Amino acid sequence: MSKTCWNVTFEILRQRTGQKPYFESFPLEVDPDEYVLDGIERIWAFHDRTLTFRHACHHSTCGACGMRVNGVEKLTCITTIRSVTKDHGLIRVEPLRNFPVLSDLVVDVAPFFQRLESTGFSGVALVGDARLGYEKVENEAETYAYNRLVDCIECGLCISACPAANTSEDYLGPAVLAAAQHVFRQSDDIHLVDLVDNQDGIWRCHSAFECTAVCPSHVDPAWRIMDMRKATVSRRIQKFFTPRKKEPQP
Ligand code: SF4
Ligand code: FES
Repeated sequence: MSKTCWNVTFEILRQRTGQKPYFESFPLEVDPDEYVLDGIERIWAFHDRTLTFRHACHHSTCGACGMRVNGVEKLTCITTIRSVTKDHGLIRVEPLRNFPVLSDLVVDVAPFFQRLESTGFSGVALVGDARLGYEKVENEAETYAYNRLVDCIECGLCISACPAANTSEDYLGPAVLAAAQHVFRQSDDIHLVDLVDNQDGIWRCHSAFECTAVCPSHVDPAWRIMDMRKATVSRRIQKFFTPRKKEPQP
């Protein structure tokens, strides 16, 4: 049986630091069940070796292949061509927004990783600590016997989709605030409240929930930001009702 074959055009945003960006078209014959990343790799392999893009695991674990596909943030290694276009259609690929572009589809994620580190967030945790609310537990003791990857794969899709991140470079952004909430709920470390209780932290979020809509890993950063707001307000109330220590008399 012969395979289905589609003709599609990849329109890729090309750019180098300090140069004007432009779209370049690459017509390709594809199997619609291939992934967008497969198409980009084929363009690199057979059409243009100067095309730069990031990828590693090819199975939604490393978070490296995040891009905007037809205007929506996607992990390109798990986004089928069929899901974003049709036969003789267009696939427009751009780098993530709200990050500085280094080259073509590659953005600078270093400041994002530094901010994540400042929360004490670790990509690996004991199963019990990494678990999300909806996950079933068979044996509570066992959940503290093993490590697993935590759910945020540090892909940056949420930051690209966030309308508030567009308004301030200093905004910590959904992934970092979600990480702060994650660590705070495990550790009660009050310094995390100080880190996020300001206009570039939880209060800049407009509750658009765009971050949660694009997150490929069920982290639900918008809910976590709301939860962190609750924790911050309770702390303020607690402080208000806590009697101040008397100053020692001279
Ligand atoms: S919160 Fe979700 S979208 Fe944001 S970096 Fe983590 S996995 Fe990616
Ligand atoms: S290549 Fe690793 S998440 Fe896509």
